[in-house]
Amino acid sequence: MNLLIDKYNRRIEYIRISVTDRCDLKCLYCTPKDSDSHSRRRAILRFEEITRIVRCFADMGVSRVRITGGEPLVRKDMVSLINQLSHINGINDLAMTTNATLLSKYAIDLKNAGLKRVNISLDTLKPETFKTVCGGGELKDVLEGIKEAVNAGLTPVNLNTVVMRGLNDNELIDIVHFAIENSANIRFIECMPVRRIVNLSKERFISIKEVKSLVESHFELEPAKSSGGGPASYFTIKPTIRNSQSAIKIGFISPITQHFCESCNRVRLTAEGILRLCLGYKDGIDLRDYIRSGISDESLKEIIIKIIQNKPQGHQFSNDKCIPIEQSMSMIGG
Ligand code: 5AD
Repeated sequence: MNLLIDKYNRRIEYIRISVTDRCDLKCLYCTPKDSDSHSRRRAILRFEEITRIVRCFADMGVSRVRITGGEPLVRKDMVSLINQLSHINGINDLAMTTNATLLSKYAIDLKNAGLKRVNISLDTLKPETFKTVCGGGELKDVLEGIKEAVNAGLTPVNLNTVVMRGLNDNELIDIVHFAIENSANIRFIECMPVRRIVNLSKERFISIKEVKSLVESHFELEPAKSSGGGPASYFTIKPTIRNSQSAIKIGFISPITQHFCESCNRVRLTAEGILRLCLGYKDGIDLRDYIRSGISDESLKEIIIKIIQNKPQGHQFSNDKCIPIEQSMSMIGG
């Protein structure tokens, strides 16, 4: 039974959990400019606390969990957290979003611990552009991580490409070919105006409509049969003389030009235990304080049910309560 229905009649069935705001990369669109000031304002949630919160959400009808960061794999012992979460009754989709720099090392153990699938950021296939966009790291580690994820069966592997004019817009077709060769789905995402890129985004921004036309100039697309249950609209590639049969999906995600707030089914938990009801609002509810003050599961659930009623109708990235001013994706959970 789902007890988490908000006042706009949206059913919350998905929780995204950031396990750390640290990351081994500093992607342009994600990390705060002063990323050294990742000063820990307070302690992050322990694994048992995360597991407890997820158990409460699962009791109220949440069935999908995604682990995010920062970069989740920089936190020690993630395999053990996955193991704990995978044993919670009612959770039938346990996924992770990662930059994959460390994934080749952990893929098999994560799979054995119960992780179902991964989404991997892949903005470029060029080592030089990778340095520019990701602020460090090695593209080859990411490519290795993608291969290991597919081999380990963390599938479907979804590759995420945030499209930025003048940075990676000339690579989109190569990225689709890469996805086909690696049996991964590929999702193109509009760049959201998060903090450091508020100004940058104006010149770099490309609408998903433009991205789709670009892809369609090389591939004939048809709407995919299954929707994926998230914000992406998915297409498959029609086999043609130039392109042989491929089972992968191409997704287009348009948080800016065509937001999908009316069907939003998710909430977010930050590493420090703040429950955020909307990506676009900096306000949140401190669940960590509640659980550290000795609250019972029943009372915690009652509080969550009430809180969910306040889920904003939608993000307004121009409103001054929105993230550009305060926080970056790496702190909220990308
Ligand atoms: N705009 C769009 N997508 C973003 N992500 C992070 N920051 C942004 C942003 N500003 C997404 C990317 C990345 C994942 C961790 O979060 O898809 O792969």
